[in-house]
Amino acid sequence: MGNDVVLASEDQQILTLTISRPEALNAINAAVMRGLHDAFEEVAEREDLRGVILTGAGEKAFVAGADIKGFKFEDDSLKQLGQFGFETFSRIEQCRVPVIAAVNGFALGGGCELAMACHMRVASSNARFGQPEINLGIIPGYGGTQRLPLLIGKGKALELLLTGDMIGAEEAKALGLVNHVVAPGEEVAKATEILLKVTSKAPIAAQKIIALVNKHYYNYQEGLQAEIRQFAECFQTEDAKEGVAAFIEKRKPVFRGK
Ligand code: COA
Repeated sequence: MGNDVVLASEDQQILTLTISRPEALNAINAAVMRGLHDAFEEVAEREDLRGVILTGAGEKAFVAGADIKGFKFEDDSLKQLGQFGFETFSRIEQCRVPVIAAVNGFALGGGCELAMACHMRVASSNARFGQPEINLGIIPGYGGTQRLPLLIGKGKALELLLTGDMIGAEEAKALGLVNHVVAPGEEVAKATEILLKVTSKAPIAAQKIIALVNKHYYNYQEGLQAEIRQFAECFQTEDAKEGVAAFIEKRKPVFRGK
């Protein structure tokens, strides 16, 4: 299971998937998305697994977002990427066994969205969360506009989405974005502890609870689809070209609203 950028290991029937592109702060490129997609496809078939932990390699980042340097403006590949991301993140959200994000640093953009698609989040005290897409002239494309308000409420979600500001682990916990904050390096151990506790309970009941809690939020599937379409539309704007170019050139963007 896994590939060269999504590393898989198993212990006590818990699967740990580590996103490993440290040179890009574990940003999600096509290979990462494919690795996650295929891993969760396999998890659905594996009756022996009791839970999944998602984490990032190194101490600096969980995932610093979608791979900005890989954005293509010309074709409809971003729409396809959005759709594939939707399928992958939905698989994670609807996974039969509990999935915990062990957030060991930056969880920005697609990284924050990935953590939100998991059932629970354990963060190291140095973790930072945010949806900075607006700084690039675009919007979240992997569920951020839909899952963030569900977790932290509309007002605060709008503030984070519209300002692109980052928040620390303690604030994320106070807002309900994070379940637990632990010392750096302790995230996977804490996530394992929670999973072992959950999996000592009745598995059928646990599966039903996950499915039913998801069902409560079923209506937002429409919102997720609208987000994918509008994420792709953003890339038709001059602002998106300017925002992405500014990030790569390490300068401040100048947006013109076009
Ligand atoms: N996509 C592609 N590359 C990324 C990336 C991303 N989302 N995030 C970071 N990187 C790369 C940087 O370009 C840099 O590469 P370089 O060494 O070739 O210049 C490397 O990872 C290290 O990042 P750097 O920016 O130098 O680290 P920092 O500590 O100064 O800043 C962040 C860390 C996370 C604040 C900053 O990297 C950042 O803002 N990243 C983008 C976050 C974002 O907008 N995500 C949403 C994308 S839709």
